[in-house]
Amino acid sequence: MKYAFLGAGRMASAIIQGMLRANVCEPSDIVAACPEPDLLQSLRDATSIKIVSENAEAAAESPVLILCVKPQDAAKALKQTGAHLKNKLLISIAAGLSLETLQNLAPGARVVRAMPNTAAIVGRSATAYAAGSDATPQDSELAESIFSSIGEVYPVEEKLLDAVTGLSGSGPAYVFLMIEALADGGVSCGLPRKLSQDLAIQTVLGAAELAKATSEHPAVLREMVTSPGGTTAAALTELENRGVRAAFIEAVRAAERRSGELAGK
Ligand SMILES: NC(=O)c1ccc[n+]([C@@H]2O[C@H](COP(=O)([O-])OP(=O)(O)OC[C@H]3O[C@@H](n4cnc5c(N)ncnc54)[C@H](OP(=O)(O)O)[C@@H]3O)[C@@H](O)[C@H]2O)c1
Repeated sequence: MKYAFLGAGRMASAIIQGMLRANVCEPSDIVAACPEPDLLQSLRDATSIKIVSENAEAAAESPVLILCVKPQDAAKALKQTGAHLKNKLLISIAAGLSLETLQNLAPGARVVRAMPNTAAIVGRSATAYAAGSDATPQDSELAESIFSSIGEVYPVEEKLLDAVTGLSGSGPAYVFLMIEALADGGVSCGLPRKLSQDLAIQTVLGAAELAKATSEHPAVLREMVTSPGGTTAAALTELENRGVRAAFIEAVRAAERRSGELAGK
């Protein structure tokens, strides 16, 4: 199977490197096109894939196109593939571009819309996807094999993708803010900055891994470390009094709304 990437930025590079790490295909099976020659060259140096400057050339070679340009560049990028969209599988990661829009931009193609996140760079994305009505079960399987190579994959109905964007698409930024704030807290208690940041990162990583490994409800895990009258209870009271739980809920809802607005809803 041959894969053509339209766009060679951060996400394309993360997905290509994930696919090669997971042996989804060989470097010679991937071609990437992008208007930025330096970016293409460094991607080729890192991965040995084929690079071309024209989207039409990349699309002509492959039955599967992976659209990794910014949403505002998607129409142009697809137009530049010329007559090479018919009967192809088009997998788009462009935020906010609906299956209907993709179908209109790529007549004759079967479409899949996915929402990965930036943790794809380290192979830990949470990616949700929805398949268009013409996509076959084999198309979904193929999309799953691609996104499994950069993390976990979840099939969803398309109407849920704005909510997915609000939670896992934008979510890494919420966690970065949390890490930053935890590290600031440590510094304000006298910890050296580097140690404080390392402790904050390892704490978030460890807590997430524990939650995943045990499959317990987070409230159960929280109770396990909250002794009556102890330090954690004092901290949690402070977080609840300051509305941190409500702030996270509203943050996800605000991002979901914004995703819908950007999609023109
Ligand atoms: N970053 C994330 O965490 C994340 C998460 C989920 C989804 N996404 C989606 O993933 C997509 C890519 O994001 P990114 O962060 O990888 O962006 P990026 O680093 O800016 O990469 C996009 C690349 O596409 C190139 N490009 C522009 N017009 C093109 C055209 N007509 N044909 C081919 N390539 C073209 C750009 O080249 P120039 O530099 O020359 O413009 C750029 O190198 C976006 O649609 C975004 O919504 C991103």
